Amino acid sequence: MASPGPNISSSLKETRTFAPPAEFSANAHVRSEAEAQRLRDWAERDPDGYWSTQAESLQWAKRWDVVCDWTGAPHAKWFVGGRLNVSANCVDRHVEAGNGDKVAILFEGEPGDARSLTYAQLLVEVCKFANVLKSLGVVAGDRVTIYLPLTPEAAIAMLACARIGAVHSVIFGGFSAEAVADRNNDAKSKVIVTADGGWRRGKVVPLKANVDVALAKSPTVETCVVYNRCDSPVTMTPGRDVWWHEAMAAASADCPAEPFDSEQPLFVLYTSGSTGKPKGVLHTSAGFLLGVSLTHKLVFDIKDSDVYWCTADVGWVTGHSYTVYGPLANGCTVVMYEGAPNQPHEDRFWRIIEKYKVSVFYTAPTAIRAFMKWGDQWPKGCDLSSLRVLGSVGEPINPEAWMWYHEVIGGGRCPVVDTWWQTETGAIMIAPLPGATVTKPGSATKPLPGVIVDVVDRQGNPVPAGEGGFLIIKRPWPSMMRTIYGDDARFREAYWSHIPGAYFTADGSRKDADGDIWIMGRVDDVLNVSGHRLSTMEVESALVGHTQVAEAAVVGKPDDLKGESIVCFVTLKQGVTATDELKVLLKAHVAEEIGALARPDEIKFTDSLPKTRSGKIMRRLLRDVAAGKVSTSDTSTLEDYSVLAKLREEDE
Ligand code: WT7
Repeated sequence: MASPGPNISSSLKETRTFAPPAEFSANAHVRSEAEAQRLRDWAERDPDGYWSTQAESLQWAKRWDVVCDWTGAPHAKWFVGGRLNVSANCVDRHVEAGNGDKVAILFEGEPGDARSLTYAQLLVEVCKFANVLKSLGVVAGDRVTIYLPLTPEAAIAMLACARIGAVHSVIFGGFSAEAVADRNNDAKSKVIVTADGGWRRGKVVPLKANVDVALAKSPTVETCVVYNRCDSPVTMTPGRDVWWHEAMAAASADCPAEPFDSEQPLFVLYTSGSTGKPKGVLHTSAGFLLGVSLTHKLVFDIKDSDVYWCTADVGWVTGHSYTVYGPLANGCTVVMYEGAPNQPHEDRFWRIIEKYKVSVFYTAPTAIRAFMKWGDQWPKGCDLSSLRVLGSVGEPINPEAWMWYHEVIGGGRCPVVDTWWQTETGAIMIAPLPGATVTKPGSATKPLPGVIVDVVDRQGNPVPAGEGGFLIIKRPWPSMMRTIYGDDARFREAYWSHIPGAYFTADGSRKDADGDIWIMGRVDDVLNVSGHRLSTMEVESALVGHTQVAEAAVVGKPDDLKGESIVCFVTLKQGVTATDELKVLLKAHVAEEIGALARPDEIKFTDSLPKTRSGKIMRRLLRDVAAGKVSTSDTSTLEDYSVLAKLREEDE
């Protein structure tokens, strides 16, 4: 792990500030910094009081006895003794309140097909699919894999699991068959829900074909439900595969929502850590739902009339928290778009905003940088006047992209909320409150009420303002992960062993003189490619899995568009010739093993890798080589100095 210090301390000197527009503040949930500070003070002084007051916003079948039980730290229990049903909170209660005709989901497919579902219609679909799952033998606690395109069926399947207390494991449609099999096996999934395919850049991504390969290696999966999205040919295995539409036609729409314990597991979501094996981050019910609904309301200042669009796929945590659970718990109208942002043209997103009058838009810096590259003419050709709040998530947003977003997309009138959080935190932790916070391009500003963070050195001592350190969270919060599925020792080790008593985020950051937080990026061996975490180890093990590769080291290289690009240093087995064709093959091999997202940008063949005497590959040196920088970092532990010189030569 690199230490944040002079090496990664930010040279960023951003001094621009943006106060919320007066009319925005006047109508906001939180109207001033003073009010925001009062909330932070209250939550810090009396966390139980703060969180229990907020939890009144959920619908409970039985009220809790204890707000937070932290006696089993690092395992928290929230709203102990309480019972609720997550799907009833996201759907039924809005229908019961007379809002059944309000649109829940505005769906647009990549080919241009559109469909909307009201809350009443969503309720019918969720109940039916819950009954389908029951008829397949799924009971509370069972795991269900969901590998679908971004269509309403993904939300329906997730909510149906929640309704019956089953635990979903959503896998992003860009992951390969291998990745699906690994995750099926780790979670011991009983059922997988997929589609023939999904549309992406005018082509069908063959999801079912991937599942067929995965299921040959997934012994626990008994049934595969297939949604027909693209009318593309698939092979159905009798006795194992069933069509979504056939099962739904036979299912009853009557499925009462049974209340579950607050701590009933809701989902597992796999994310990259610094060892090869993905971590199944486990989230439970009540605390997660409170975290996502409250932050969705406050950070985006959500009102009943909003049309809200988060562009993330449901395969990532952002899709779980801010496309499905948070917004639906708030009874919001959510836009869902299946495909690529430049299909058929580079203005697709802006056309969608214009068509549906989107008022709150949430996307990633990597997308924003692509839009900048494509040119202002695309957004300028559309009416974006419906927008009122713009959000960013996934990686640090560079001030230039922030300014472009603010001016070109937001017309200078919409607050930009840069939201810092992680799969593990479940919900947004650090972000502006758009009616209250003075924003600074590149800063996620201040922690939300109840989130107690600090920036510390390796020993856990707070570092002075302006200096880089590790970002930690000092108190439990409702939407925190509960464990790594099936590997509690790793949960303790990865998050709770670095700084005693605190949650370790693995992000470097600094706090400025105003107390605003600037995130500097990951301090472990994890890449952030287009806002998605990828483990360098996972890419390395894919490479070493190839018959011609002896050893591999993978590092990130700063990339204007993707945040980081993937650079692989590869040593070949004896007698293998380094050719450009082999580079192409290796790139394809990684994409096959992990998914297209992990396709290496560069492969560099080398005779040896820089190592410590104990044999550890010194990735930070390789990072410098990849970036074409002369290494200023410590090389005293390097075993063979000539290796580094050679690598640099090879790079020329
Ligand atoms: C890592 C978490 C949270 C949903 C998407 C990614 C980076 C996330 C920001 C931000 C700077 C950010 C961090 C974090 N990150 N948001 N606003 N500013 N960095 O979820 O895959 O769990 O990745 O993404 O490095 O630790 P994830």
